Amino acid sequence: MKDIAFVDILLRFGFIPFSTGMSARTQIIEVGVMSDWLWWRDGVIYQIYPRSFADSNGDGIGDLNGIMGKLDYLADLGVDAIWLSPIYPSPDVDFGYDVADYYGIDPKYGSMDDFHRLLDEAHARGIRVIMDLVLNHTSDQHPWFIQSRSSRENPYRDWYIWRDGRNPHSPPNNWGSVFGGRGWKFDPSTGQWYYHMFAPQQPDLNWRYEPVRQEMLNIFRYWLDKGVDGFRLDVFNEYFKDDQFRDNPWKLGIRRFESQKHVYDADRPEMMELVEAIRLILDEYSQRYAVGETYLADEKRAVEFTGLSRLHAAFDFSLLHSKWSAASFMKTAQYWDTLNIADHWPNNVMNNHDNPRSASRYGRGEKDERLKVAAAFLLTLRGTPFLYQGEEIGMRDIHLNASELRDPVGKKYWPLKVGRDGCRSPMQWDGSEFSGFSSVKPWLKVHPNHTFRNVENQLQDPESLLHFYRKLLQVRKSSKALQRGMFQPITFDPQRLAAYLRQDDSETVLVALNFGRRKVRLGLGPDLANRDWELLVSSKNRSAVGIKNRWLPLSGEEVCILKSWN
Ligand code: GLC
Ligand code: CA
Repeated sequence: MKDIAFVDILLRFGFIPFSTGMSARTQIIEVGVMSDWLWWRDGVIYQIYPRSFADSNGDGIGDLNGIMGKLDYLADLGVDAIWLSPIYPSPDVDFGYDVADYYGIDPKYGSMDDFHRLLDEAHARGIRVIMDLVLNHTSDQHPWFIQSRSSRENPYRDWYIWRDGRNPHSPPNNWGSVFGGRGWKFDPSTGQWYYHMFAPQQPDLNWRYEPVRQEMLNIFRYWLDKGVDGFRLDVFNEYFKDDQFRDNPWKLGIRRFESQKHVYDADRPEMMELVEAIRLILDEYSQRYAVGETYLADEKRAVEFTGLSRLHAAFDFSLLHSKWSAASFMKTAQYWDTLNIADHWPNNVMNNHDNPRSASRYGRGEKDERLKVAAAFLLTLRGTPFLYQGEEIGMRDIHLNASELRDPVGKKYWPLKVGRDGCRSPMQWDGSEFSGFSSVKPWLKVHPNHTFRNVENQLQDPESLLHFYRKLLQVRKSSKALQRGMFQPITFDPQRLAAYLRQDDSETVLVALNFGRRKVRLGLGPDLANRDWELLVSSKNRSAVGIKNRWLPLSGEEVCILKSWN
């Protein structure tokens, strides 16, 4: 009954302004299936890079107790889950993405007891915890690899990808490493080459070998049994490589890795079956979740990995690469809309620990107006929003000189590539010498703008970006239409104006975003103009809805969000 009423309302108000490829039938499915709140679908997920979040014991490195001390801050911000970048024992060649023990906590981050306490304290505040699982490769210091490289006969030999070279001086094939150079390293003691998609200290696991697969699936169970709510799967679609180790075709590029089409070293069809096996394990528990880091594949591929029997989500990174224009942002929002949304749930990511921050990409100097527009977009789209620590206060990338770099990519390629340190500088809690992050000089330099750009200052300023994020999260939380309603574009122009509706059976939310610096007016049809709107959010102190003669005026870089009951 409810479903029919919903479609009826849509038709009555003429609310299908233009086709997004969704049939009325798809809309019915959406309402029918999505009646209950689900944390990973309707909530907001916040990524923590533990090394740089909060240091509780004064060694310059963030830790679990540091995170614990900030849970109230996160609860006040309104996030529903935190994703922790890796906290397992690691020699830190790639800062945790080189794991030396999947069943432990690195002492620099705390103990297993600290982890359990963090889990309990987060849960007590209604915050779920997502672990980062790095299962494509281990550290070369992992006992498995130490065994594996010790002799060709060692029982762990086949846990990694060992091959004979084409000849003693030439690797088995042309595959490269993401971090530069060849993807193969010769090991003189056993006379074979091993494959590493990332640093040589990150040898790839051999997922085709049954004991490896079993062990990996155990790791899921181990953390699920501890009560962890979900996983972010690091470069999951690279687990399998071509079984015949064929050369990748070449294309134009500067470094070896970028000069190849990644046909044989990545994204192999075998992954689909594994994704289904992983989902079966997750579904043995209640409300557990996995999001895959789709690497070297576009959003179309990301979609294929998701669904009721596959992963809950796979990252769509298109917003990370969007330029500053209404059209470009709207384009990123539209792909998932053409799909059966009951089976595939989108996610939206504007920042993470691998890319320049959105504040540095979009912000003009230290001004935050554009960041409010971007935040409003991210948090009113259909799909789970991911935030990255510091995004909510508009942290900018730090500029470092060569001796200050820590990321292996930056260290190898500076100044050609600066690496990823820029977005990893310590969280800016206050204006003190080490930004309230630590009492000593941190592992990575604090951004000089922390003296004024910090949480403490922004909490005191009702106009701050932080307050704006808090407001948006609160508004999203209180609106089912924003969480899971349909996305209906009204209009957008190439540069400046983007406007769309989010609707469910009971409410309609209108989002109007001015990407430009000059005033614009949004023209509304009579059905929209004559509604009884309530002002939810304005970034420019708008005091009333302000629709006049079917026009909604917007000042430069203004966010305006209105709501009405259907
Ligand atoms: C992912 C991580 C990145 C890491 C790489 C290797 O892309 O996000 O930080 O360097 O995988 O594990
Ligand atoms: Ca510490």
